[in-house]
Amino acid sequence: MLIADALVMTCGEAGLGLLPGGAVLVEDARIAWVGPTADAPAGAGPRVEAEGRLLTPGLVDAHAHPIFGGERAAEFAQRAQGCSYQEIAARGGGILSTVRATREASDEMLLAGARARLSRAVAHGTTTMEAKTGYALSVDGELRLLALLGRLGPPTLRPSLLGAHAVPPEIPRADYVAACAGPMLDGAAGAAAVDVFCDEGAFTLEEARTILTAAKARGFAVRAHAGQFADLGAAGLVASLGGLSADHLEHVSEEQALAMAAAGTIATLLPGACVQLRLPPPPVVRLRAAGCRFALGTDLNPGSSMSESLPLQMWLATTHLGLTVEEAWLAVTRDAARAAGRPEAGRLLAGAPADLVLWDATDYR
Ligand code: NIG
Ligand code: FE
Repeated sequence: MLIADALVMTCGEAGLGLLPGGAVLVEDARIAWVGPTADAPAGAGPRVEAEGRLLTPGLVDAHAHPIFGGERAAEFAQRAQGCSYQEIAARGGGILSTVRATREASDEMLLAGARARLSRAVAHGTTTMEAKTGYALSVDGELRLLALLGRLGPPTLRPSLLGAHAVPPEIPRADYVAACAGPMLDGAAGAAAVDVFCDEGAFTLEEARTILTAAKARGFAVRAHAGQFADLGAAGLVASLGGLSADHLEHVSEEQALAMAAAGTIATLLPGACVQLRLPPPPVVRLRAAGCRFALGTDLNPGSSMSESLPLQMWLATTHLGLTVEEAWLAVTRDAARAAGRPEAGRLLAGAPADLVLWDATDYR
């Protein structure tokens, strides 16, 4: 297929890399050639006239929780009346409420719910998604969710094992941390990364260190939910382990921001959760000055961000968090692909997977 006369956004190392009047040749599900339409090789397949419309890499959602049972609409209403996310969680709602529903749900129910969410993500331009487990909280249950994620897509999923999302009420805390750092990892060959929710009301820095160090020693890439409610030091921990990304980051020190930049650990921001929980915005100026690269995620989950739409996150990131338009695009393409552990995606360059979005828009801004 040749897509001709597009405003091509390449998202290479130099930035957006806009090419007006550009063309892209696709062969065998890969991008074979990119350049001016006048120079396009004659392909054997169909030719699509883009008529100046924007053509970008398929979007990459760097943080999502797409597989779970039940719903938490009542909590949304409670928060709208002034209850906080942490108050609701302390009363046994929050993540644990979704854990109860997920444990009861059949495979078919979990797959059907996830498929509906993934198809909405695709409709909003997502072609790669980092996809977490985290709503079973047992070795067998988390590995079951991992196996179910392996049966899903499009979009192309990069599964993360998030056994350490909350402490299950029926297991002593230390035993569960040991399970997350041992037997759970032994069965998790299908995971692209291991994640920990390290925050007030979740896992401590030392628990996160135990789990992520064990994961890294077994060859997994690591990442963390870091600094959503309080800065426990998880962003610095992930950087010290050479991890893919530290996510949320409403609270993160300059020292950790510098460590992330030096390690190439991406700063993944989740504006949907930030705005919905009415948290202070993450320190974008500090992260930018430190040299961090940004990614955006929907944080798709039933509690804090029930959205599959990356364009919505881009809008919130520019209006509420202070990202520039250029940063927002790179945060859902090139740098989100690195954060998600699929660095070959998110770019519109020869050799990259032909995951493309032709937008009904002629101005990328
Ligand atoms: O990324 N912060 C922790 N985990 C999710 C929320 C999960 C839930 O509330 O079910 C998040 O916001
Ligand atoms: Fe999350």
